[in-house]
Amino acid sequence: MEPTEAKMYDMLKRPLRDLRISVTDRCNFRCHYCMPAELFGPDYSFLKKADLLSFEELNRLVVLFHQAANLEKLRITGGEPLMRKDLDKLIQMLSESTGIEDIAMTTNGVLLPKFAASLKKAGLKRVTVSLDSLDSIRFGEINGRGVGIEPVLEGMEAAKEVGLDIKVNMVVQKGMNDEDIIPMARFFREKGYILRFIEYMDVGTTNGWRFDEVLTKKEIIARIDEEMPLEVIEPNYSGEVATRFRYKGSKDEIGVISSVSDAFCGTCNRARLSVEGKLYTCLFAEKGFDFRELLRSGATDEEIKSALFGYWQKRDDRYSEERSEKPSKNRPKIEMSHIGG
Ligand code: GTP
Ligand code: 5AD
Ligand code: SF4
Ligand code: SF4
Repeated sequence: MEPTEAKMYDMLKRPLRDLRISVTDRCNFRCHYCMPAELFGPDYSFLKKADLLSFEELNRLVVLFHQAANLEKLRITGGEPLMRKDLDKLIQMLSESTGIEDIAMTTNGVLLPKFAASLKKAGLKRVTVSLDSLDSIRFGEINGRGVGIEPVLEGMEAAKEVGLDIKVNMVVQKGMNDEDIIPMARFFREKGYILRFIEYMDVGTTNGWRFDEVLTKKEIIARIDEEMPLEVIEPNYSGEVATRFRYKGSKDEIGVISSVSDAFCGTCNRARLSVEGKLYTCLFAEKGFDFRELLRSGATDEEIKSALFGYWQKRDDRYSEERSEKPSKNRPKIEMSHIGG
């Protein structure tokens, strides 16, 4: 049977709309909550080139996924996506072959001065830059490489100059960077970029996550609201992960991503393609479906689309909601640096 868009829903009646594509497992940072330096040291074996999907393989998969699911958004992630050679070529291929308008990238920003212009030309529309503090010393500790905030701010400037839309992601960890919430909110309000606060999550198995390090959406909003009153606004689209807020009396907005305190699995329409071609239907998944194997075994287009269709139909992931219901649940999970958050 030919898969058709109308039927591509999972067990919880969720469509697939947003494909997040990891293009490398490498990163020039060692954020302690993602790739702690003790574990990702000089001897760590990153994937070899032959293990990664080639641009041609990736492009073929994305075109077929788009035919099967009618995707609305592609987001390029890593590791740090700008560590992948010739990324602009991939973006151009994806943009031309799918026609998808909304192509975004999540990056730590430091390589943007070098690549922003070619990425924009290739079809990238927007970037989300991660920055957890405005204090260079603290930021250097968090990123595990002692990199201050200037290179990241320069990356944002470079993106702005070439006309990319910019958002900023701040992972909030209680006792680590929560005192940066207000300075970050003020700074990025002034700059006109949407800042999103992300509750610290228990992704992967290496970051030693503890619930008492999470500052919840409610607490984050209360702190900002005390200084700059906020009001909730409607989501931009169904399945948006951030709850949006506006500073009262203005058009300036922020977002909070509350995967821990207020899960949003009910509308989750995202899938993640890992750098070695496995498709994960949840950020916290144990295993993925090996599309690389299928591609390299000579599967036809129809076989690949049917595989996606079948895999998505069986999807019942709702990890964040389950975590709230049964907080002690502990099991193996894919690492963030393989699927890019
Ligand atoms: P927009 O397209 O601008 O709405 O961005 P986005 O929120 O889809 O993408 P972004 O990469 O900026 O997501 C921000 C962060 O939210 C991610 O890095 C993750 O940490 C978290 N996040 C995104 N999607 C999910 C999800 O499906 N589940 C959970 N638990 N967290 C998610
Ligand atoms: N909890 C919340 N956000 C995280 N990120 C990485 N690890 C975590 C975590 N444990 C964020 C990064 C980046 C995006 C890809 O996900 O800072 O903004
Ligand atoms: Fe690199 Fe982003 Fe992970 Fe930090 S969070 S180590 S910048 S991939
Ligand atoms: Fe989607 Fe899994 Fe995140 Fe829930 S926990 S929103 S199912 S990725």
